[in-house]
Amino acid sequence: MSEIIEVDGVSKRFRMYRERNQSLKASLMRGRRAKYDEFWALRDVGFSIPQGSTFGLIGENGSGKSTLLKCLARILVPDEGSITVGGSVAALLELGSGFHPELTGRENVYLNGSILGLGKREIDRKFDEIVDFAGIETFIDQPVKNYSSGMYVRLGFSVAINVDPDILLVDEVLAVGDAAFQAKCMEKFAEFRAAGKTVVIVSHAMGSMRTMCDHVAWLDHGRLVQSGPATSLVDEYVDATHVERAVQGDQPEHETGRHGSGEVTVERVELIDGDGQPVTTLRTGDPMRIRVHYDAHERVDKPVFGLAVETLEGVYVWAYHTRDGGLEIDAVSGKGSVDCVVPAVPLQPGTFDVIASVVDWTTQHTYDLRRKVVRFDVEAGSPRESGGIVAMGATWTREST
Ligand SMILES: Nc1ncnc2c1ncn2[C@@H]1O[C@H](COP(=O)(O)OP(=O)(O)O)[C@@H](O)[C@H]1O
Ligand SMILES: [Mg+2]
Repeated sequence: MSEIIEVDGVSKRFRMYRERNQSLKASLMRGRRAKYDEFWALRDVGFSIPQGSTFGLIGENGSGKSTLLKCLARILVPDEGSITVGGSVAALLELGSGFHPELTGRENVYLNGSILGLGKREIDRKFDEIVDFAGIETFIDQPVKNYSSGMYVRLGFSVAINVDPDILLVDEVLAVGDAAFQAKCMEKFAEFRAAGKTVVIVSHAMGSMRTMCDHVAWLDHGRLVQSGPATSLVDEYVDATHVERAVQGDQPEHETGRHGSGEVTVERVELIDGDGQPVTTLRTGDPMRIRVHYDAHERVDKPVFGLAVETLEGVYVWAYHTRDGGLEIDAVSGKGSVDCVVPAVPLQPGTFDVIASVVDWTTQHTYDLRRKVVRFDVEAGSPRESGGIVAMGATWTREST
């Protein structure tokens, strides 16, 4: 099989500027010599991707997966090494990337299509199919800033697959769509593969990475640990990260990632039980309130607070942000808190991590995102079912004959 992508000795460096909160005057006084730390997000990474295969990138948060995808998409240029790509590329990277919030869905389809190399006539011809696949007909003439995150993802994905690229790059987005949409995407991936196209995908869902991908590359702190057949390498990865996390187990607030521009920060996140007491252990079916304490260091308009829950294996269980929840916050300044009320925890016994974030109204800009901001345990409660992550409250029956 011939290789469609060759990644050879790729390194990518970012500069982290210090004293970011200083005034404009102070930075002017300091002159052009802004101080920064260098940081290698990718270091000497090399592998190749056979044409027509589905290739996965796996690794902990911050290991460099998104950076590598952006290099493949030529959005970022490596500082060292080379990348050879033998075909046209469509990329679906961060949530709604490439969408202009003030433009309507329709305008964004044309804008995106042209960025991806389609002429107006071609987009005209594909337009209905794009909108139909996304399932957002009734919203197509509204500005996309009014879209839910699910609608953003569906439209972005629909444009990317319908421009008919040789190579499709997909970063973490499938976790956001609903099950029906995910199933449609899986069908599309299958069609893609049947047509000899190549898919490069990043996902936290190790189960689907294992079954969907032919090969994966495992990244750790920007370095390639190994690349090889998906089934065995995903299993090795799951085993290895289990071990690492077990060692961290007695430091529940250990953080593996935090980023954002810092105008508003997430100070801490509390879990509160039905009696109003802070807890870190609950039972299936218990009520729970997740309280996000923030500090707005300056006035910030229309912030959106978000929460997500992951298993220790990194399986993305749930997410919800205030915009999707219909809570519009005009502005924040100073300290405060917002609560997310969960009537009955629908989780099976296990250990879970909470991710908290505060982003702008378009959800394009991150003020602060904290992974593993708090860890909690779920113990057996009601409903009590046999296994898995969620408690569905199911019942068994049998027709008597
Ligand atoms: N534009 C950027 N400037 C500075 N650091 C960045 C930038 N983009 C990513 N990083 C950092 O590079 C590392 C790798 O990030 P990323 O590629 O997003 O990882 P992953 O997708 O595996 O979670 C992280 O530590 C992240 O904070
Ligand atoms: Mg990423």
